[in-house]
Amino acid sequence: MLTIIVAVLVNLFIETSVSFTVVVPHDQSVAHVGSIVILPCWISPPENAEALEIRWYRHDQFSSPVLFYQHGKIQDVQEESYRDRSSLTRWSDKSGGLKDGDVSLRLEKLRIQDAGSFHCYVSGESEYDSGEVFLKVTALGSAPVLFPQPLDDGRMNITCKSSGWYPEPDVTWMSDERTVLRPGGVSRSRGADEMFSVHSWTAVSHLDAHLVSCSMSLKTGEFRESRIDIQAVIPSDPSDPWKALFFTLLICALLGLTGLILYKYRHKLTGKKTGKEVCEVRPKKKRTKEVVGDTIIEDLRKHAVQITIDCEHLHPDLKVSKDGKTVRYAPEYKPTGEKFQYELCAFGAQRFTSGRHYWEVDLARENNPPKNYWLIGVVKHGNFSAKDKSALTPSKGYWFLCSDGPNGIYINSDPPVTLSLTPRPEQLGVLLDYDRGQLSFYNVKERKHLLTMSSRFTGSVAPLFNPGVEDLSPLVILDCPEPVESSEPLLSNSSEA
Ligand SMILES: *[C@@H]1O[C@H](CO)[C@@H](O)[C@H](O)[C@H]1NC(C)=O
Repeated sequence: MLTIIVAVLVNLFIETSVSFTVVVPHDQSVAHVGSIVILPCWISPPENAEALEIRWYRHDQFSSPVLFYQHGKIQDVQEESYRDRSSLTRWSDKSGGLKDGDVSLRLEKLRIQDAGSFHCYVSGESEYDSGEVFLKVTALGSAPVLFPQPLDDGRMNITCKSSGWYPEPDVTWMSDERTVLRPGGVSRSRGADEMFSVHSWTAVSHLDAHLVSCSMSLKTGEFRESRIDIQAVIPSDPSDPWKALFFTLLICALLGLTGLILYKYRHKLTGKKTGKEVCEVRPKKKRTKEVVGDTIIEDLRKHAVQITIDCEHLHPDLKVSKDGKTVRYAPEYKPTGEKFQYELCAFGAQRFTSGRHYWEVDLARENNPPKNYWLIGVVKHGNFSAKDKSALTPSKGYWFLCSDGPNGIYINSDPPVTLSLTPRPEQLGVLLDYDRGQLSFYNVKERKHLLTMSSRFTGSVAPLFNPGVEDLSPLVILDCPEPVESSEPLLSNSSEA
């Protein structure tokens, strides 16, 4: 009898003492030099972590941690290089923070040296647990600069230079976007800042090539590319200006003719459907690891709506295709400064005051480099002029995800949060749940839920698009067929992820 009571008591004791495990993601986080990254870590089951000890440290540097939290506050024992750069943060908008066991680390002003593993170590009165988070740091270099030099044999020696890369980028030369050219030579050097500079050259004949492009790319898929029209830099032969003129005119005429024929032919072939894009999951190209998330895109598409651009409130420097589905900036547009051009906004002609609505945007068109600059979300109807980033907050009626090239992808929560989304979404799904006050983003190809913003919508809201200016690739709204019957129950796993 006594033994039974003792056993019960022991059992009770074990069950009431705190028992948790530390949970970290399997995927490594990827972020750019200079940016902000959040390394996720939380305890499970969720419980208030304010009374616990939280230690983030690297390698075997247990006693000089990146961050140390104890007795309810961050202790001043950080390793020198992490001072003023590290803090505890919430992994997502939905997390309750420390109170809910979220002990994620925020690191600012990332440096190359930050790459590698971080230990997240949490200890309570009677036990502890830890997990390891991996961080990969990359740097997207400058746009390559191309420099042509005529060679004695009549060919052109084109040099391509770019700097500020990490790790070393791959160099690809192409002519007329079809043929890969062999580089004559590639040399790489490493600066004091650990970044790589790359110098490559290739010799081409203007008889074989027209547009020559040099592209430098990272394994993450991010790249920088420049092109040169070598026909435009052929040194004219002073002995025979008429011949040169004749050939130039001939080439122009031929090009014009082919263009016209192609245009007519295409029109005839496809009739009215020219350029119409149907939303379907295209097979992925060139990806070795097949990552398949668990979001059922077909369920999202039950809420599909046809979105077209509202031409009335369009920024004057944007160009929209006839069918209102494709938007890009006009070549005449002169960006002000180097920052993301927030003013280049296009709005959906459709407005919503209730219900669920879903649409998809293509960010990696075939035959175009993938887009690195875009802004996609919703906006309170009537907010037609956007200029300053600081004014584009949820409380002012803007909700969006923005990809700002090397500065990363961020959501405009207040304050904005940079995300490490790898791979970058090539086809982005947007689900507006007006009644629940949620805006969710999905990576359609990977079938993954990316994030959900929670807010309260008032009045009518419209889709918001901005194609950016640093890449010429267009932003294309896909045609998702509208369902015959809607009001199906929404998938439950998506917004809770
Ligand atoms: C082309 O120019 C590069 C310098 O950018 C030089 O190193 C290389 O030797 C040149 N190639 C030829 C064939 O002259």
